[in-house]
Amino acid sequence: MPHDFMPGLAGIPAAKSAVSDVDGERGVLEYRGIRVEELCQRSSYLETAYLLLFGHLPTQQALTAWEQDIVRHRRLKYSIIDLMKCLPEQGHPMDALQAAVAALGMFYPGRNVKDLENNYWSAVRLIAKLPTIVAAWARLRRGDEAIPPRDELGFSENFFYMLTETAPHPLWVDIFDDCLILHAEHTMNASTFTGLVTASTLADPYTVVASSLGALKGPLHGGANEEVVEMLRRIGTADRAAAYVEEQLRNKRKLMGFGHRVYRVKDPRATILQSLSERLFKTCGSSQLFDVALHVERKAAELLGEKKVYPNVDFYSGIIYDKMGIDVDLFTPIFAIARVAGWLAHWLEQLTENKLFRPDQIYAGEHNRPYVPIDQR
Ligand code: ACO
Repeated sequence: MPHDFMPGLAGIPAAKSAVSDVDGERGVLEYRGIRVEELCQRSSYLETAYLLLFGHLPTQQALTAWEQDIVRHRRLKYSIIDLMKCLPEQGHPMDALQAAVAALGMFYPGRNVKDLENNYWSAVRLIAKLPTIVAAWARLRRGDEAIPPRDELGFSENFFYMLTETAPHPLWVDIFDDCLILHAEHTMNASTFTGLVTASTLADPYTVVASSLGALKGPLHGGANEEVVEMLRRIGTADRAAAYVEEQLRNKRKLMGFGHRVYRVKDPRATILQSLSERLFKTCGSSQLFDVALHVERKAAELLGEKKVYPNVDFYSGIIYDKMGIDVDLFTPIFAIARVAGWLAHWLEQLTENKLFRPDQIYAGEHNRPYVPIDQR
């Protein structure tokens, strides 16, 4: 049964899933049937993670138990911190995160993925420990000691505390938590698919997440948020935005933070992130990057609208994190802190009816070539 080759598997379903859904024509994103706009208004990141993993919103009692389980597993073993201290400080935080997550699997063997209770605790540990790893690395690479989590602080507040040792503005906590919700899940994207391929071999969940982290890092996927801020900084001022966009497109270069395989309209997450930025700037003062971004978007709409290329989730997120004083190379790790919930939800879903991924190929090489001895080549 030969099939046409679809580069990038565009339009080919790789799973049946009830975790989330995107309507790329209308710009609608739902997690377990609930629109992300509503989750941002009414939920928290941890509650949303529960929804993604278990398929329903928790009762108050279940939510409290879930939050407590996460709090109890936020700490890192000394050996993980020691391992990170051995990594080169100029290395990318995504690489440090991937190395630390792979190492976690050696401390918490979760090899028997048929053990549902073990799977629950693996999911708890991964969601709980990723922020601690990212914050620890951000400090260790500067020569500072890692700050352990504080049990009385919520998920997002605690991340800021571990990063800076200070209490963040409550508005920042709110906005940051919404950013995590918006990044928590997005159907069959490259990093989720990567994780599922690894999961299909019945590898342990730490290995699954380490694979997904590798895929997320690339600039065509999660790594774009870093590149957007670098691009906006390069442009510098709003009056230079239009000329920059024209030049990029004239030279057939991509605008980072624009375009999506599925959306034919503006990514709904970009729309929410844009309004979150406006909320942030009203309280904390404006941002030059935001002004530049608005002008880039305006010119891009004029030149790329015909191709239905609009801002994606990575366009406005970095501007928010930048205003909060977060280092640019931590943006993708923050994406990972959120997306781990989606990866794990798909992992658990796939385990219920797993089949090893082993796609076909269309062979385009030669047959029956003679082996030429080395002295005759
Ligand atoms: N800037 C300029 N033109 C673009 C852009 C862009 N960012 N994105 C797509 N286009 C154009 C392409 O040049 C192409 O034009 P053509 O038909 O004249 O050749 C057309 O739109 C289709 O683009 P493809 O790259 O073929 O679409 P694909 O679905 O493969 O790409 C992708 C999606 C990889 C996200 C692409 O839009 C891109 O490279 N964007 C920039 C990187 C980025 O922001 N990535 C983050 C995506 S969101 C996420 O992963 C979290």
